[in-house]
Amino acid sequence: MSKVRIYQLAKDLGVDNKELVDTLNELDIEAKNHMSTITEEEAETVKELFVDKEPTDEKQEDSEQKLTVVPPVTVGELAEKLEIDSTSIITKLISKGIMASINQNLNEQILSDLASEFDFVIGDESQEDEEDSNEEEKIIEEILKDEPKGDSAERAPIVTVMGHVDHGKTSILDAIRETKSLESEAGGITQHIGASRVVYNDNTIVFLDTPGHEAFTEMRARGAHVTDISILVVAADDGVMPQTVEAINHAKSADVPIIVAINKMDKPEANPDRVKQELTEHNLVSEEWGGDTICVPVSAISKDGIDELLEMVTLVSEMNELQAYPENTGKGTVIEAKLEKGRGPVATVLVEDGSLNVGDAVLCGNTFGNVRAMVSDIGKRINKATPVTPVEILGLEDIPNAGDTFQVVPDEKQARQIAEQKKEKEREEKLRKNQAVSLDNFFEQM
Ligand code: GTP
Ligand code: MG
Repeated sequence: MSKVRIYQLAKDLGVDNKELVDTLNELDIEAKNHMSTITEEEAETVKELFVDKEPTDEKQEDSEQKLTVVPPVTVGELAEKLEIDSTSIITKLISKGIMASINQNLNEQILSDLASEFDFVIGDESQEDEEDSNEEEKIIEEILKDEPKGDSAERAPIVTVMGHVDHGKTSILDAIRETKSLESEAGGITQHIGASRVVYNDNTIVFLDTPGHEAFTEMRARGAHVTDISILVVAADDGVMPQTVEAINHAKSADVPIIVAINKMDKPEANPDRVKQELTEHNLVSEEWGGDTICVPVSAISKDGIDELLEMVTLVSEMNELQAYPENTGKGTVIEAKLEKGRGPVATVLVEDGSLNVGDAVLCGNTFGNVRAMVSDIGKRINKATPVTPVEILGLEDIPNAGDTFQVVPDEKQARQIAEQKKEKEREEKLRKNQAVSLDNFFEQM
């Protein structure tokens, strides 16, 4: 009988890995972690439990929510908001001994008297702001909403290479690229853009390199979000180090399966067993030791084990059955961005779904633009990027941040509008934070 990986099942059911593992354990089905496998029969049993779960009826809650009125309002405005005739409010006020006209401003005291009679609650200004911004968000959402078009197609896995500084992430990628890169086919020059595509046994795999230095913690955190599989590089002569642990935590919190590459096996002091031992302290138990974690000993220098590593990546990604809609409008994530002399803002993006074309209007983080040109990972000019392709795009107004998402929108005017709204919001947010900080300082000084 075939086996089912827990993280895959969790994904299908739309539940948390941990929640699923806990439920399995409650049912006495053995499951160590999200990488464990269970039988199809066991999967069916647990599926029923989750499918039978009563959906929470948010709509009903909504309808029970009372209308919020934010003072100051006039009698006329209140009547309009409550969708009633203003004379009924005036009559009520007269019965309370208050002579009021339609333009009369109602203070909080009077409003609270009316609230119980007309069944509304009194809000404050910040609530009104929130309502306004929710409204804006809804409009943006509407513009960005993009129903899948056309048929879905299998897509390449996105694999992030993570690990402690100097453990050999870039070297492993170089070793992979050297033997398997598309570069050799197309004869182009590899530009180092931190993202590359390779073909292994007819399967395309997209790799993202991440720097191991602590300063890049945030970038690694983002890396784990765009990724399908994480290769955790651990040097066999150095073992599990702080950024190794951090990478493990990122991958786990993003529910991304981990494949461990125990690197630098060519070194005489290499000690893979020590690495495996240290990994068990972080709940990664290698398969040879009865666990579910795939550990591949490799050397980026001698290239030993590189094929096995690619084999494992292909295996894990096949289990994920990754899909995308190439006919959709393009969307994805910014990997890095910089200002280049003579080229303007240049962003390396990963097109994760849909297709991106030269001439498309895009919204990218807080900035926008028309895609003027696109350059592939092997330095070739291209006009179309399908999922999953890393490309450099030219034509943005400003430099986005690594980790920002991008999205093709109907036209540049809309892109500009939404980008400006987003910028404005960010400014307000910053101001609010600064004010809070300065108040804290103020109290500290007292
Ligand atoms: P950061 O990006 O700075 O975090 O480092 P990295 O993890 O990308 O490591 P990088 O590939 O730059 O390698 C660091 C050093 O280890 C270099 O001097 C490499 O030559 C060396 N190195 C990488 N892999 C191997 C290996 O398999 N064997 C040996 N002997 N040395 C290696
Ligand atoms: Mg590196």
